[in-house]
Amino acid sequence: MNPLIELKNLSVRFDDQDVLTNIALAIHPGESFGLVGPSGQGKTLILKLIAGLVEPTSGEVLIEGKTWGQRTESEKLVLLKKMGMLFQKNALFDSLTCLENIGFALQENTTKTEKEIVEIGEYYLNAVGISHARNLYPDEISGGMQKRLGIARALALEPQIVLYDDPTAGLDPITSKKIIDLIADLKKKNNATIVVISNDMNRTYQISDKIGMVYNAGLILTGSVDETKKYPHPAVQQFIKGDVEGPLTNRRPVEEL
Ligand SMILES: Nc1ncnc2c1ncn2[C@@H]1O[C@H](COP(=O)(O)OP(=O)(O)OP(=O)(O)O)[C@@H](O)[C@H]1O
Ligand SMILES: [Mg+2]
Repeated sequence: MNPLIELKNLSVRFDDQDVLTNIALAIHPGESFGLVGPSGQGKTLILKLIAGLVEPTSGEVLIEGKTWGQRTESEKLVLLKKMGMLFQKNALFDSLTCLENIGFALQENTTKTEKEIVEIGEYYLNAVGISHARNLYPDEISGGMQKRLGIARALALEPQIVLYDDPTAGLDPITSKKIIDLIADLKKKNNATIVVISNDMNRTYQISDKIGMVYNAGLILTGSVDETKKYPHPAVQQFIKGDVEGPLTNRRPVEEL
């Protein structure tokens, strides 16, 4: 089976900083890929590259075998409608109610009637368990509910590819587990391919078929959950165990500087 998403020999440079170098990644239809790694190493950037929001300095991002640049404007729109994204900071519209936040993309991208849009909005609010917040604004609901709303909005167009940037950040452990359960349920229902960024290894193990860790501008493909747990790279082991000592935190003692 051909990969649905493929990054080939991909590098990104900002100013004179190599943020990503020679990244290779293949995600197949129906797979769930977990992306982890220390803060500021390029996880969000990888999602933005996949979504075509950022262009690589060199190398290629292929979706269904084609780069973004090889598509016409109308082909890009077709592809964008197949993708949903939960942004790290949710990117909700503050001046729209929860229901309207979901309806917005449908209004822009479909020919559905007002009544149909309301029905779909209500369906997804219910699916993520926040029906009662229908008429509230984003700043009137809790952080966990905002995440749920972001997920509902990402899913309303029933995308085949869903990119989740840190869906459980800042949430308590129980809410986190519920959100990941929800992502797994919705993935199954839509038979989608998903990429999930999280630094919570338990949640990453819960959702992922395969895992990768960004480290030193590279992407270490650590394999399945079992393979990741045993992956013999000191930085991977330090990261997944949360050890204070190791290659991710090694600094020379002050007296040596
Ligand atoms: N548009 C941009 N212009 C310049 N630098 C950028 C841009 N986008 C990202 N970067 C830099 O690329 C690096 C990776 O950023 P990214 O947001 O992908 O990190 P991250 O792994 O998602 O971190 P976190 O876990 O904190 O969300 C950072 O050093 C960031 O400053
Ligand atoms: Mg990020």
